Amino acid sequence: MNPKIRKAVFPVAGLGTRFLPATKAMPKEMLTVVDRPLIQYAVDEAREAGIEHLIFVTGRNKAVIEDHFDVQYELEATLSGRGKQEALDLLTKDLPKPGSTSFTRQQVPLGLGHAVWCAREMIGNEPFAVLLPDMLMKGQPGCLKQMVKVYEEWGGNVLAVEECDPSQTHQYGIVGIGAEVGGPAFRINAMVEKPKPEVAPSNLYINGRYILQPQIFDLLSKQEKGAGNEIQLTDAMLRLMDRQYIYGCRFDGETYDCGNKVGFLAANVAFALDRPDIADEFRPELEKLLAR
Ligand code: G1P
Repeated sequence: MNPKIRKAVFPVAGLGTRFLPATKAMPKEMLTVVDRPLIQYAVDEAREAGIEHLIFVTGRNKAVIEDHFDVQYELEATLSGRGKQEALDLLTKDLPKPGSTSFTRQQVPLGLGHAVWCAREMIGNEPFAVLLPDMLMKGQPGCLKQMVKVYEEWGGNVLAVEECDPSQTHQYGIVGIGAEVGGPAFRINAMVEKPKPEVAPSNLYINGRYILQPQIFDLLSKQEKGAGNEIQLTDAMLRLMDRQYIYGCRFDGETYDCGNKVGFLAANVAFALDRPDIADEFRPELEKLLAR
């Protein structure tokens, strides 16, 4: 049997320059979609998929992420004193178990591959997941759970992929489609980071969810800079493909790229329309705005 995926890495060291000034003093992962920060959605998705240990690769000015996953004693005591049970439940229900979070820092922003490599000691010698919190997923079950199903059946490495408009290939890692293995899964036979449309092997992009074998760390440790002069995870995965299978898992759901403003705004609307407590009130407001 393939070993269980117990640990997930959340690379959260990015500077968030596309969201300035909002991200001047606040990490972009704390931007809220409706009333939950982006990082909370990624953690929820990981937990749903059976992840037990959450590893955050942070950077300077990111301490508030650590606080978010800690007990907020003063607030809890105040709410409890005022009998605000509902608000109190909201604080406590998402709290990770003691000892189930770890934090390390990517000291210099050298790229996604380098950020993942910074978690190597915390991962050790077992397969693990990576979730990029900018990419907000809406799916039933969640994206990582869909991937775990493919992993349980086929082992190896699994990347979630989705179709993008061919003109957008330069924004993402793009995979080549090899043999279909059944259901949503196929063997990846090529991988290019941010290719121009003319040289992209397909229009299937890596949407920010990965299940990787620990051998990726050897490759990342030797790695040279690639696209954008950064140490790219995609380049290391391409080399891993010489030794191991990497499966693509076509995600059944929607992805909102919250690394850009339009994607982030769309996510807020989509998630609000799905929330039973606000949708009825929000829909007419939205319709009014659209009719303007
Ligand atoms: C990273 C990956 C890329 C992937 C993307 C998804 O790029 O390198 O392969 O498609 O995340 O968001 P970044 O967005 O960090 O430039």
